[in-house]
Amino acid sequence: MSDLLTPDALDRARSDALDLFARATDLDALATARTAAIGDRSPVAMARRSLGTLPGPDRAEPGRRVNAVSQALQVAYDARRDALELERDERVLREEAVDVTALPGRLPVGARHPLTTVQERIVDVFVAMGWEVAEGPELEHEWFNFDALNFGKDHPAREMQDTLFVAPEGSGLVLRTHTSPVQIRSLLTRDLPVYVVCPGRVYRADALDATHSPVFAQLEGLAVDEGLTMAHLRGTLDAFATAMFGAGLATRLRPSYFPFTEPSAELDVQCFACRGASAEPGGEPCRVCSSEGWIEVGGCGMVNPAVLLACGVDPDRYSGFAFGMGLERTLMFRHGITDIRDFYEGDQRFTHAFGLEA
Ligand code: FA5
Repeated sequence: MSDLLTPDALDRARSDALDLFARATDLDALATARTAAIGDRSPVAMARRSLGTLPGPDRAEPGRRVNAVSQALQVAYDARRDALELERDERVLREEAVDVTALPGRLPVGARHPLTTVQERIVDVFVAMGWEVAEGPELEHEWFNFDALNFGKDHPAREMQDTLFVAPEGSGLVLRTHTSPVQIRSLLTRDLPVYVVCPGRVYRADALDATHSPVFAQLEGLAVDEGLTMAHLRGTLDAFATAMFGAGLATRLRPSYFPFTEPSAELDVQCFACRGASAEPGGEPCRVCSSEGWIEVGGCGMVNPAVLLACGVDPDRYSGFAFGMGLERTLMFRHGITDIRDFYEGDQRFTHAFGLEA
């Protein structure tokens, strides 16, 4: 009879295997112990295989012993596995527990810049009326920035003290001084009718002070269609003023001049703080409008036929209106900001005050 099948050998195999199971402290270790204790090459498996070498009548007794040991080891293995699984589950529940009542960590949050939010807010007003958003390059050709907009060759706006020209001299390139060249680009590239709103950054050779910046944001609107009149311009600007400053404020147009609009006007909105009362006799003084009763918002007018012609649009069939405003100045009025430099200095104490506006 093979040595493996003696009662002593089987007892040893059994106690070694039980020892291995007992020493396995996690499921990975138990899997290794299992291979060694009851796997294909374990002493018990070898013993079972050696039963085949015995003559039939001699197999019964050792066969029972092998079976008894295998069953005992299987029971011991199952028990150890169940115990280790339970231990693991309890540990995972403990370690991965989530305290749903814990306060969230308070990381400092940034805030959206007021120029971004006001731009989106105005654009939304026009998009809701069916207008589209149009954009153009900040490095612009003089033809789009001036010529096509009917600026005469010797218009003062073309002078070095107003416009930033881009080297080399005679390149014909400027940093756009307003968003109006986007009117030209829109008329040249889009099918009529055109209803576009054009936000963007513009540049002027202005020194930085409390109310001027060499770089600032404008927002332009252009509508060209059959039968548009000043009444359409007026109604559009009223809708804009309501969205921007609140309902029930009057608007007024004061005669002005722009080469690309005729007639041209400045758009004033009644002061949203005093609602015009400060300008009445005996009215309380108002800091928002300097007791003028009105706030100047931007320029506007009917598109000059010369502009339509420059873009290949028939002025006998089509007419249009346009308007444009500076966003910093509009925000300065709306929020009582006294220094334009606050917009550009990146001080979070400034932007945070606007951060909650959607
Ligand atoms: C224009 O730029 C015209 N393109 C607006 C327009 C469009 C009129 C369409 C008619 C039809 P103006 O030069 O006035 O107009 O500038 C418009 C606004 O830009 C001003 O009302 C002011 O709010 C703002 N602005 C002008 N210069 C500066 C500056 N240096 N810093 C900050 N804002 C400025």
